[in-house]
Amino acid sequence: MQPDERPMAALKAGCICKGVKLIRLIEAIDNGAASFAEVATVTGIGGGPCKGKRCGKKVRELLAQRR
Ligand code: FES
Repeated sequence: MQPDERPMAALKAGCICKGVKLIRLIEAIDNGAASFAEVATVTGIGGGPCKGKRCGKKVRELLAQRR
């Protein structure tokens, strides 16, 4: 993660349903999570009312950007 990404990612929502910030998703991917399922296992996202529709899209975008 670039140092200038951290402050905004700490404020932005990653999974609205579960109240997980974007920075946790980025950290999970930077630490080796390579799929939505792996990010979900590490961060606890995906089990909310939308069943991962919103955060799943975000994770797929992050995975494409960071690989
Ligand atoms: S935004 Fe993550 S489960 Fe709904």
